[in-house]
Amino acid sequence: MARPTDIELTAAAEALARGELVVFPTETVYGLGANALEPAAVARIFAAKGRPADNPLIVHVADEAAARKLVRAWPPFASKLAEVFWPGPLTLVLPRDASVPDITTGGLESVAVRVPAHPIAKALLERARVAVAAPSANRSGSPSPTRVEHARDDLGASVAAYLDGGPTDVGLESTVVSLLGERPVLLRPGGVTREQLEAVVGPIDVATSAPDAPVLSPGMKYRHYAPRAKVHLVASDALQPTIDRLRADGRRVGAIVSTESGLAGAEVVVPGSKQDAARWAHVLFTSLRELDTAGCDAIVVEEIASEGLGAAVLNRLRKAAEPQ
Ligand code: TXA
Ligand code: MG
Repeated sequence: MARPTDIELTAAAEALARGELVVFPTETVYGLGANALEPAAVARIFAAKGRPADNPLIVHVADEAAARKLVRAWPPFASKLAEVFWPGPLTLVLPRDASVPDITTGGLESVAVRVPAHPIAKALLERARVAVAAPSANRSGSPSPTRVEHARDDLGASVAAYLDGGPTDVGLESTVVSLLGERPVLLRPGGVTREQLEAVVGPIDVATSAPDAPVLSPGMKYRHYAPRAKVHLVASDALQPTIDRLRADGRRVGAIVSTESGLAGAEVVVPGSKQDAARWAHVLFTSLRELDTAGCDAIVVEEIASEGLGAAVLNRLRKAAEPQ
């Protein structure tokens, strides 16, 4: 694994303390970090990403004790989930403490908190000694970065330090769960699956994205995760006909398909079997970026089953495929 030196880590922690931006790896995707309790520092995140001001940020801390300082309530569900899934790809939404500024929460009375598992993220948080607000380190709307080069391509010189940890492990973002009501509500599927959550806390509710439903997680209303090419998400039996039709229209077509599809070619990415959702999660965002770079203007993606990590993979693909 790529690993920053001690000097680089210390410099990055000092940059955070000065109110500057730092890109760092987590086990999910790379984050664009700033001191979460310093409004001027957090404002730099929104500017660098081109992010809408009402889309709140996840605050990263080194451990549960630090997370508790950012919230006004710590219900039994929080203890259970933190015990099993922290450090790891789970974000909890709780009533915010008064110390958390409006800009960090997008004006909401709640705050999203997470303890990442990646050794470089942990080392940075321990040295920085501040809570670190960090959205994914991409320009708003683009696929999340799973390698430091993706973040550099998107954000360039607006960032004081880039920490390279090589490709990230999970490949898509953390699961976001609201603990504001009586029952946990899944706001965004991610690295921890619904099945894993329910094994610990019993049945949970799932936020719908019906157009008339109240917006629980502001980020869900924006277009997301999309490469420049238009994404077409199709069932296995529609793959070849869709590719043929787009080619006949003069499109340069890339594809992301399962081993079972039998398709191959220069601009065909095969993450693995339809059953292996973890592999799909791992390569999804990288593949979308690579097919863009290869000059494709259409990307046809095969649907996989919506179980386990497959739910998160499909959630990102559906958003990527939304009309622009
Ligand atoms: O894996 C991840 O979660 C990565 C890494 C860097 O930790 N971060 C990430 O952050 O994906 P971002 O900003 O790209 O996504 C944060 C999501 C958004 O959908 C946002 O609306 C939601 O979390 N969120 C944040 N605070 C919230 C709150 N108080 N209530 C509801 N949703 C919230
Ligand atoms: Mg993001």
